[in-house]
Amino acid sequence: MNLQFSEEQEMMRKMVRDFAEKEVQQEVDRMETEDRFPREIIQKMGKLGLMGVPIPEKYGGSGMDYTSYIIAINELSKVSATLGVILSVHTSVGTNPILKFGSEAQKKEYVPKLASGEYLGAFALTEPGAGSDAAGSKTKAVKDGERYILNGSKVFITNGGEAQTYITFARTSDEPGSKGVSAFIVEKDTPGLIIGKPEKKMGLHGSSTVQLNFDNCAVGKQQLLGEEGEGFKIAMANLNVGRIGIASQALGIGEAALEHAANYAKEREQFGKPIAANQGISFKLADMATEVEAAKLLVYQAAELVEKEVPSSKEASMAKMYASKTARKAAIEAVQIFGGYGYTEEYPVERLFRDAKVTEIYEGTNEIQHKVIAKDLLG
Ligand code: CAA
Repeated sequence: MNLQFSEEQEMMRKMVRDFAEKEVQQEVDRMETEDRFPREIIQKMGKLGLMGVPIPEKYGGSGMDYTSYIIAINELSKVSATLGVILSVHTSVGTNPILKFGSEAQKKEYVPKLASGEYLGAFALTEPGAGSDAAGSKTKAVKDGERYILNGSKVFITNGGEAQTYITFARTSDEPGSKGVSAFIVEKDTPGLIIGKPEKKMGLHGSSTVQLNFDNCAVGKQQLLGEEGEGFKIAMANLNVGRIGIASQALGIGEAALEHAANYAKEREQFGKPIAANQGISFKLADMATEVEAAKLLVYQAAELVEKEVPSSKEASMAKMYASKTARKAAIEAVQIFGGYGYTEEYPVERLFRDAKVTEIYEGTNEIQHKVIAKDLLG
């Protein structure tokens, strides 16, 4: 594969890198210590067109290619993995399902608001008893004349406390497994939608992760997304692509860990010379650099396949699995290279270490990615 970015894609990289360094970097400590959602930054991202990078101009987006979107997540995540996940969930699974499966009326109603950043999107699939086994969900949507009444609970909903729209999955029939699931666009202010308190997480401080309860939550039948029973297909189709966004977030974390560790190794002197002069350190950095490079190739290969409309769920899973593992390993090694300082909040590597871990868990654990890859391989 040829990793040559177009002029437009390079411009996107530079624009997001400048934005991250000028606008995001200064807020990182506050997000970290106060666990504060970065609303102002999201507003600025909306003005720059970053909340709808791959969304067609016709629906208020920037009309750019998928790789440019992946570049935006990658660059943001080098500075703040929190902003990386907010953007990825908002676009890949908060907006795209409406664009791909919505009626024209739904697209006109919601996509321009989401693409401009006026609305933030969320995706409500996971339940207390249905994480990896997404088809084991229990939330129900019972048809009642012109509306559906939703009852059930969703957990670990990224952007959940801040979103205006939730792509919500609920059972509309008693058919078992994936068959009876339908998708709905549920608006935040819908009576019966109760937003729980934020989770206190190991990492990604500043991102909003909540439980949602649906207590006789009535939505009009026009909020059904796609056909009844099509929900699982909609979830999987968007996760297939969405996983590349998380892979790109993980890539950003891995790149940041490598950069901080290499710089520190060149500056930090022990025994009268920079610690980078020791093979024990330089070989570690060489391994980190190799794995980060391999992750980059997988991430951008998967993005290119999406752009060419070639089926890419295997490649997306490979990218997500490998980039997340690389991010975790690179961040652990970075902490090791920083030694005692790496274990303190004074340096960014301990945050990278905490942020990296979840990339192996959400949007399908790495065990589930193995399952997707093996199924594609073996049938
Ligand atoms: N793409 C398209 N279709 C798929 C698919 C895929 N990747 N995987 C399954 N399907 C289809 C199958 O073809 C099948 O269709 P038919 O019935 O028409 O043949 C149907 O779905 C059921 O397939 P399976 O029996 O294989 O489904 P399963 O119950 O074994 O589950 C799974 C498959 C891959 C394990 C799936 O449940 C899964 O991906 N689980 C992980 C859930 C997940 O990723 N959650 C993420 C939550 S969102 C999030 O994390 C966002 C965030 O905060 C960052």
